[in-house]
Amino acid sequence: MKEIKVNLEKNSYEVIVGTGLLNHKYLEVLKGKEVLLVIDESIPLKFKDLITEELSNLSSNFHTLQISASEENKSWTTLDKIHSKLIEERYSRDCYLLGLGGGITCDITGFAAATYQRGVKFILFPSTLLSQVDASVGGKTAINHPDGKNMIGAFHQPLKVLADVDLLDSLPEIEVCNGLSEVIKHALIRDKEYFDWLEMNMASIISLKPDVLEHTITRSIEIKAEVVSEDEKENGIRKILNFGHTFGHAIEVYGEFKEFSHGQSVAIGMLMAMELSKIEEGFPQEDIDRAKELINIANPNISLINTFDYKKLMENMSVDKKRSGNKLIFIVLNKIGQAKIKTDIEESGIVKAIQSLF
Ligand SMILES: NC(=O)c1ccc[n+]([C@@H]2O[C@H](COP(=O)([O-])OP(=O)(O)OC[C@H]3O[C@@H](n4cnc5c(N)ncnc54)[C@H](O)[C@@H]3O)[C@@H](O)[C@H]2O)c1
Ligand SMILES: [Zn+2]
Repeated sequence: MKEIKVNLEKNSYEVIVGTGLLNHKYLEVLKGKEVLLVIDESIPLKFKDLITEELSNLSSNFHTLQISASEENKSWTTLDKIHSKLIEERYSRDCYLLGLGGGITCDITGFAAATYQRGVKFILFPSTLLSQVDASVGGKTAINHPDGKNMIGAFHQPLKVLADVDLLDSLPEIEVCNGLSEVIKHALIRDKEYFDWLEMNMASIISLKPDVLEHTITRSIEIKAEVVSEDEKENGIRKILNFGHTFGHAIEVYGEFKEFSHGQSVAIGMLMAMELSKIEEGFPQEDIDRAKELINIANPNISLINTFDYKKLMENMSVDKKRSGNKLIFIVLNKIGQAKIKTDIEESGIVKAIQSLF
């Protein structure tokens, strides 16, 4: 078991990575409290029963709300269901929300907690690799707007995050691949040694080898926690966590959130961002080749994609949040492990980066 501290000015908290975390010991803080569990319907029954039993024994007012996780359902309608349940069951400002599911469940539970009665506490049990290494840590909460992903949201930090590796056993391989995009992102922007280690261990991660998986989740969370601790509200350095995401979000919109998952979009987005890094910063081709190989092992399906209408992609980028005034923000790499924020990029370079992939 590993504990990682997210150090913040106010409300610092711990992320625990390990196995057997869905039990009493870690939920003690909920004793005698009002608790609403927001749970993804894909969570296997054995975990659902386990947590339900623990919480029924601990809590003074316990209810469960099951949600069906999809980008379409990361919406006002689902948020309204959570708020309505809280109001219907007369939850006070002292209540706790508990999210058990992937990034969608974590983001929406966090946003429901941020907005119910001007903000209540919440705890997360991320259940996908992506949500364990990324979405559950850092306090970004949101829902989608039909015209833009994560457009409505708030910064609201959880009280605790419990990343139980056992939960990943039932995860479809494609979802493991999705999470690996963020893992590779963490190494590329911040830690060359971790990148080298990932190259050696990628096959074991994909096959969910427990010790390798636990190290991956821990190191990725450490990197995210370090960056978030330096810049909680994303005024500066935290933007580097968006590496590959300016392109990636545009790709998600391009595929109407159905054709490409977040992880696949970020994988393609990182390939484009590395081409841009080569143009802008002289990021070495040798590093592109290594990163490309790793990304392709983690996400083999993306090599089947053979074209993008660059004009449409550019248009999608212009509504993205990752902008400063009228300028798009791009994260580029100088070398593996070292990222830089750039806003003054020529359109021709962006087009070239998109086109160079095909
Ligand atoms: N807040 C942040 O900082 C942040 C960071 C990265 C991503 N995100 C958000 O996270 C979302 C993507 O997260 P995700 O990939 O976890 O998506 P998700 O929540 O949709 O989960 C992916 C799929 O796996 C299923 N699932 C979840 N846990 C499972 C389990 N243990 N066993 C079997 N199936 C399971 C879900 O039902 C879903 O079908 C996006 O909306 C993205 O915007 C947020
Ligand atoms: Zn992401």
